[in-house]
Amino acid sequence: MPLVCVCSPKGGVGKTTMAANLAWALARSGSKVLAIDFDVQNALRLHFGVPLSDGRGFVARSAENPDWSQAVLTTGGNVFVLPYGDVTEEERVRFEDHLTQDAHFLPRGLSTLLNYPGLVIVADFPPGPNPALKAVAELADLHLVVMLADTASVSLLPHIENNRMIGKALNNKAGHYFVLNQSDTRRNISRDVTAFMQQRLDDKLLGVVHRDESVAEANASQQSIFDFSPVSAAAFDIELIARRVASLLDIQVGNGELHGSLRSR
Ligand SMILES: Nc1ncnc2c1ncn2[C@@H]1O[C@H](COP(=O)(O)OP(=O)(O)O)[C@@H](O)[C@H]1O
Ligand SMILES: [Mg+2]
Repeated sequence: MPLVCVCSPKGGVGKTTMAANLAWALARSGSKVLAIDFDVQNALRLHFGVPLSDGRGFVARSAENPDWSQAVLTTGGNVFVLPYGDVTEEERVRFEDHLTQDAHFLPRGLSTLLNYPGLVIVADFPPGPNPALKAVAELADLHLVVMLADTASVSLLPHIENNRMIGKALNNKAGHYFVLNQSDTRRNISRDVTAFMQQRLDDKLLGVVHRDESVAEANASQQSIFDFSPVSAAAFDIELIARRVASLLDIQVGNGELHGSLRSR
């Protein structure tokens, strides 16, 4: 049941894009993968071909339905998605109150899914500290923190280092790692920040994803980057990150040779 959280102190950095394409990449290498959306924006589902008009999700009736696996949607193949759903403000507040006040609420809701043999779970979160990130952290095996190759992201690094996301270290199992997104070699500031982050984060930087228009285009066409533009820079970057995630979590991937070489990383 490895559970990966994709989070960030910052909004609009590519968390949802990363969560979705990580799910696709892990599924391509043979895992059964579930992508869960904990963001009221309810955008993760759009990366899996769920229509905009489909407002189904697990949050609205999360207290009445103790088993949230009932709300899982199939996307074809090995990928499943549990959308947040279209909810009222009242329903969102109620969900967050349950998350904050009842330690059993989340483990109970996810219990069937967490116990599904071999299922890899990738969870997407709203930016900054939030009740879902805090509650899920107790169950998570790995956190990926997405940052941009810009100065605002550099200024937010202390938020991670000083435990401002959940009031303590993000992850005590495999740990937390960073992904630097939208690195643009044509822009000086982006190059400088990328070099700075590489030096500062060292092994904690799991990968750098190039700024690549095909990412936005793939999103717009509701396809993974691997289907939309398999030879793009971003597809290559995200595939590498997915292999490193698989290695950290000891997920068996289809291509044993590559898996073996990354394990010794
Ligand atoms: N590597 C990239 N290159 C170009 N555009 C990107 C890249 N990653 C994300 N984007 C675009 O950035 C925007 C924000 O991405 P999103 O995943 O919604 O961020 P978040 O979930 O952090 O708010 C989207 O329009 C997305 O298409
Ligand atoms: Mg998002």
